[in-house]
Amino acid sequence: MCSPLLPVSNKVRSLLASDFNAILKVINDAAQVYKGVIPGDRWKEPYMSAEELEGEIEAGVRFFGWAEGGHLLGVTGIQALKDTTLIRHDYVLPGCQRRGIGMKLLEYLRGLAETPEVLVGTWADATWAIRFYEKHGFKLVSSREKDRLLRTYWNIPERQIETSVVLRLISSF
Ligand SMILES: CC(C)(COP(=O)(O)OP(=O)(O)OC[C@H]1O[C@@H](n2cnc3c(N)ncnc32)[C@H](O)[C@@H]1OP(=O)(O)O)[C@@H](O)C(=O)NCCC(=O)NCCS
Repeated sequence: MCSPLLPVSNKVRSLLASDFNAILKVINDAAQVYKGVIPGDRWKEPYMSAEELEGEIEAGVRFFGWAEGGHLLGVTGIQALKDTTLIRHDYVLPGCQRRGIGMKLLEYLRGLAETPEVLVGTWADATWAIRFYEKHGFKLVSSREKDRLLRTYWNIPERQIETSVVLRLISSF
């Protein structure tokens, strides 16, 4: 499904209700990498249910994606809050990773952000994801600050707060 080179003509596009099942598939296929890596009590299958995805959309997460030849290969979401912007659910199909799709999606969301601060949360054990965001200028916040941010801006259980990290990017407009 993925050619080795990123087609230069492709564009990130806004995802619609008709993309719902394809979004779930990309998230759940890409999330398989967490199995055996994140704490066992945090893993579930499917990793994200249709109800959870619906809940995210209702909470104001807007999804964008990268498609080639009619197939959705990567998805990401953005949630604009009063004084910050969250990047939510960044996933590229396993066979399509490391060819720049994640970077294109991230650049697009950064262009949409209306606050100087952009935050992203991920599992502390997802070292590849931490590296990915660091490569794009995000910096890990302290453990205390992470707890504060996750309690303020996310709606996740305490155990997920314990096992997550937050990275922050501050842009100068
Ligand atoms: C993280 C993710 C969205 C990045 O998308 P991508 O299209 O692979 O990213 P890009 O091709 O733009 O950038 C690749 C860089 O990301 C990091 N990276 C991505 N996947 C990696 C992997 N499997 N192993 C190690 N590093 C990886 C590396 O820094 C890599 O750079 P390199 O190839 O020069 O080493 C994607 O790999 C993914 O879906 N991973 C599984 C789910 C996940 O961890 N999501 C993030 C949590 S919110």
